[in-house]
Amino acid sequence: MSEKVHIVTHKHIIDAESRRHQNRHNSFVLWFTGLSGSGKSSISDKVEQLLFERGIHTYILDGDNVRKGLNKGLGFTESDRYENLRRVAEVAQLFIDAGIVLLCAFVSPLEKDRNLVKEIIGHNNFIEIFINTALEECERRDKKGLYKKARAGEIKNFTGIDSPYEEPQYPDIEIKTGEIGVEEAAKFIVERVEKKLNIKI
Ligand code: ADX
Repeated sequence: MSEKVHIVTHKHIIDAESRRHQNRHNSFVLWFTGLSGSGKSSISDKVEQLLFERGIHTYILDGDNVRKGLNKGLGFTESDRYENLRRVAEVAQLFIDAGIVLLCAFVSPLEKDRNLVKEIIGHNNFIEIFINTALEECERRDKKGLYKKARAGEIKNFTGIDSPYEEPQYPDIEIKTGEIGVEEAAKFIVERVEKKLNIKI
């Protein structure tokens, strides 16, 4: 049985609203989900650049990078992916509190895990962006050579090959990369979140 903890939350003087006010914009999470190689990192990079150039305080958390630090040691079983995303959601919550527009690029293949993230962050702070690229296209690109390894059985539980990807049913934004390029997709996303940024000049 786990030890009983006695912790009382400390309420700070400066809160999320104070930081948002000082930054002159709202803070929330843009959550990019999609297969490995679908374009999440390229598109989120471009979105961040567009926001950053407008003076918005931004940061990116990306699966490949976070798994080398904070989430080092976690693999790709269902429970490890859950823990990966749970921790990221907790960190995302801190970024929202810090007044930052956070972009998260994670495969996040299961609806129940994306729902958990939504619960932790708060529905109002979570914008789900589905980067919809066909598996065949991701596999054809195979920039990291991982699909080839997965097909050869060298990587287990690979999303789309021997591990499921559940497409979001009602994403806030859907990008079909077969129809639009990275630049255009990024501009489209920024336009769609314009109101939510609530920029005060
Ligand atoms: S998630 O499922 O837990 O959300 P995350 O986004 O952190 O995944 O990591 C995905 C990245 O890890 C992929 O872009 C890919 O480069 C790499 N990777 C290595 N093994 C796997 C695997 N079995 N399934 C999916 N991605 C993998």
